[in-house]
Amino acid sequence: MDGNGRWAQQRGMSRIAGHQEGVESVRDTVEACGQLGVKYLTLYAFSTENWKRPEEEVSLLMRLLLRAIRDETDRLYRNNVRMQAIGDIDRLPGEVRNELLEGIQKTKENNGLTLVLALSYSGRWDLVQAVRRITRDVADGSIDHANVCEDLIGSYLSTAAMPDPDLLIRTSGEFRISNFLLWQLAYSEMVITEKYWPSFRRGDLYDAIRDYQRRERRFGLVSEQVKRTGNGKGFMRRLFGRVAGSEE
Ligand code: FPP
Repeated sequence: MDGNGRWAQQRGMSRIAGHQEGVESVRDTVEACGQLGVKYLTLYAFSTENWKRPEEEVSLLMRLLLRAIRDETDRLYRNNVRMQAIGDIDRLPGEVRNELLEGIQKTKENNGLTLVLALSYSGRWDLVQAVRRITRDVADGSIDHANVCEDLIGSYLSTAAMPDPDLLIRTSGEFRISNFLLWQLAYSEMVITEKYWPSFRRGDLYDAIRDYQRRERRFGLVSEQVKRTGNGKGFMRRLFGRVAGSEE
């Protein structure tokens, strides 16, 4: 969710005003994903590196996060959204962590959209914590080093119970992963939009899904093989049918 600061700067406003408007984009995107039948939406809300921003911005962002979780949990619950979090959440201020854990607890039986908040998260952090736990389990004999494979590594990552993303949307025209889901994005499609996050609304999400639909995901195979076996487009095609204004 990039570009909050630039959106605000363009309007002569404070950076936090950009983050505030960004919450509106979160609301609209989550609602649209729920209505479309998207199974998982992961929002990169605060990275490990974001802790190094000026103290005042970090503290205002934490306050905003606290308020957003507090204000939205009931609505998420009523809309069958299950809230989860990935990241080093022990670093979050106690109040934010408690509100988050309460939201996760309250919505845990919901089975519509799973909304994953990446907080104090980075892909490298995730790999480090996984390697630490794997090496510990190899050392105490609970796993054999010969059994360390892709599936096992995936099962130690914070996204263990989640599918890899089909689509990564990055706002504000930057062509970077910025330490997001490094392992999990191996074969994800990417859509980069010029829009700053606070201007991003459901119409931009629909555009990104339409863009995704036009692609062929080959997962390292050749086109003919993919056509024979299908390439995972079915789910996104079914979504597409629900995108308002879709001509297909
Ligand atoms: C990046 O823009 C955005 C962030 C670091 C914060 C994102 C947080 C929110 C939208 C608020 C709340 C989130 C939830 C899940 C309720 P930037 O500040 O790097 O923008 P810039 O690159 O233009 O400076």
